[in-house]
Amino acid sequence: MLTGRTVLLTGATGGLGGTLARRLRASGAELVLTGRREAELAALAAETGARAIPADLSDAAEVHRLLVEVGAVDVLVSNAALPGTGALTSFTAEQAQRALDVNLGAAVALAHGLLPRMLSKRSGSLVFVSSLAGLTPTPHTSLYNATKFGLRGFALSLHEELRGTGVGAGVVLPGFVRDVGMFAETGLPDPRLFGTCTPDAVADAVLRMIETNPAQLLVGPFTSRVGARLGSLAPALAFRLQRLGLLRGIGRQMADAQQHKR
Ligand SMILES: NC(=O)c1ccc[n+]([C@@H]2O[C@H](COP(=O)([O-])OP(=O)(O)OC[C@H]3O[C@@H](n4cnc5c(N)ncnc54)[C@H](OP(=O)(O)O)[C@@H]3O)[C@@H](O)[C@H]2O)c1
Repeated sequence: MLTGRTVLLTGATGGLGGTLARRLRASGAELVLTGRREAELAALAAETGARAIPADLSDAAEVHRLLVEVGAVDVLVSNAALPGTGALTSFTAEQAQRALDVNLGAAVALAHGLLPRMLSKRSGSLVFVSSLAGLTPTPHTSLYNATKFGLRGFALSLHEELRGTGVGAGVVLPGFVRDVGMFAETGLPDPRLFGTCTPDAVADAVLRMIETNPAQLLVGPFTSRVGARLGSLAPALAFRLQRLGLLRGIGRQMADAQQHKR
């Protein structure tokens, strides 16, 4: 239970953000929610009794303002992200930088800003929502892979660095999520063999990470977790399987549906 603990949740206005906010609140957490869309943020804050602090995480000054306004929190759930799908050359330099800033830079800056107080209290938790794309690459997702691999490395390093301090850190790696969020919004069918997981399964992992501090948790059907680990161990073999049909063209198809989110 998170009774009496304050949680800062980024990406609260997104598909997974709503589920995460409701589940964290149901566990007793006091929430501080952030996102860009002010009306959606205000509605979710009213529903969950949260503080809402709108902020654009692609802007370092906004990240700093968020840190000042939020003050001390017990838990960071870093969940905001842009899809970052599409051929690298299809992005402008500004769009590419924005994906790096929102998905990785802001997560690092928030952890950097919040950690000192957690360390002085010898208590706290930093949870980073990455993706199975933080383990295995696919074509036409290079920016997304870069940020999700980066987030995973950052979280795992911190996990061990913080051992014995009373502060936990770890990374949650969901596969494709159904019903809500950036994959469901594409309207694409469930990826063959990989399948999908529920938003609640991601929330289960986030809550478990806060409570028990594992270094990383993979979320998704068995085949997706095995496939992602294979892609991590043997990318050339994984690419061969992808060319044979597994996840074939998924990055390009997602990019077509996610052009507006750059
Ligand atoms: N859905 C999936 O299948 C899936 C699978 C694996 C991992 N994940 C990960 O799960 C997390 C949540 O994904 P989702 O599916 O909920 O995505 P989503 O529905 O697209 O929501 C993305 C969230 O990020 C926020 N965001 C984007 N740009 C921002 C910016 N410049 N400043 C502040 N906030 C910004 C959005 O806020 P505004 O809309 O208010 O700007 C929104 O709240 C992400 O880290 C994603 O990579 C998702």
